[in-house]
Amino acid sequence: MTSIKIPYAVLLAICTLLLLSCEKKAQTLAEAYADQFLIGAAVTAGDYQSQPFWKMYDEELIGNFNLLVLENGMKPEAVYSRMGVDSYNYKFGDLVADYAQARGMSMRGHVLIWHAQSPAALMKPQEGREASRASMKEYITAYVGHYRGKVHYWDVVNEAISDDWSDTYRTSSGWFKAYGSPDYITDAFTFARAADPDAKLYYVDYNVCESGKRERIVTMLNELGLVEKGLIDGIGIQGHWNLEWPSIAELQETIDTFSAMGLDIQITELDIDCYNGDPSVPEMAYTPELEKALADRYQELFSCFRRNSDHISAVVFWGIADDHTWLHKISAGRPLPSPRTNYPLLFDMKEKPKKAYYTVRDFRD
Ligand code: XIL
Repeated sequence: MTSIKIPYAVLLAICTLLLLSCEKKAQTLAEAYADQFLIGAAVTAGDYQSQPFWKMYDEELIGNFNLLVLENGMKPEAVYSRMGVDSYNYKFGDLVADYAQARGMSMRGHVLIWHAQSPAALMKPQEGREASRASMKEYITAYVGHYRGKVHYWDVVNEAISDDWSDTYRTSSGWFKAYGSPDYITDAFTFARAADPDAKLYYVDYNVCESGKRERIVTMLNELGLVEKGLIDGIGIQGHWNLEWPSIAELQETIDTFSAMGLDIQITELDIDCYNGDPSVPEMAYTPELEKALADRYQELFSCFRRNSDHISAVVFWGIADDHTWLHKISAGRPLPSPRTNYPLLFDMKEKPKKAYYTVRDFRD
């Protein structure tokens, strides 16, 4: 009997090919990005008459994410009560923290110090710096202390920078008014650091990829010395973007700017406005062209995130599926006169994965 001799190198090549074709394809976003960064989503927990997310979505879908943040339920107006420390409303945060802990998911805390959705009774804009400072200290100490070991990343200060060149800071904020200076930002980070030395602390803003806003954030970081004092760990870039803006070059420049300062980066509120920030565009159908444009946009964004995965620790979507997104009612940060269906996320109205989902999950770099 004649035996066929297969050269060793050919055999090795065949085995490698076989192994590669058997390699398990990632089933979830979290799995696909396990070596790069966390994949998060903003969720609801019954706050503001919302449906709790675990009743809206099945476990399999939620399993795409390994980090959770509350869309509204941990904001100052939801948590703060003027009745005193014992009566802070931790209900919604606790529900999500317990859910996350039971499944080994990480959690972001959104948000401690912000000008919006924050009661005057907490900020005390009319009562001066000392009263405001004492109020902030009590609030942050109790709140961050309550979530010690459960919330891993805090949005300590949100949107404190002016939208135009006339000022560095948002001087209309209740906190700025009370202090008469941006020192409230330093205080917030100081109190949060003391309340949970293991949590990672972020400054967060929108339009960060716009050069002027970005430069003003850098000015703030330098003026207050937050990096040198070891008070801040990273920058949260709200990803309220659209099909055209920001360009990948602007995004890259932003990542380069903050990572060069030794800061971690998280994309904290990612959703793609299919109307490109224009409130006058009438409602569009979700056409195959739009489906493709959205998939291409997510493709270029995520390949940029992957190239920069050494500097990015999380990418967080502002919602799970298109059936629940603030963008049905908002355009460029302002309320629309009447709701308009938008298609910003990776899952559709029926909670099925869109083409964009597969381009993000099944990447080949
Ligand atoms: C939005 C929520 O999505 C809405 O439900 C709410 O009505 C207003 O706030 N920047 C932030 C988020 O930091 O807290 C905002 O969330 C979106 C803009």
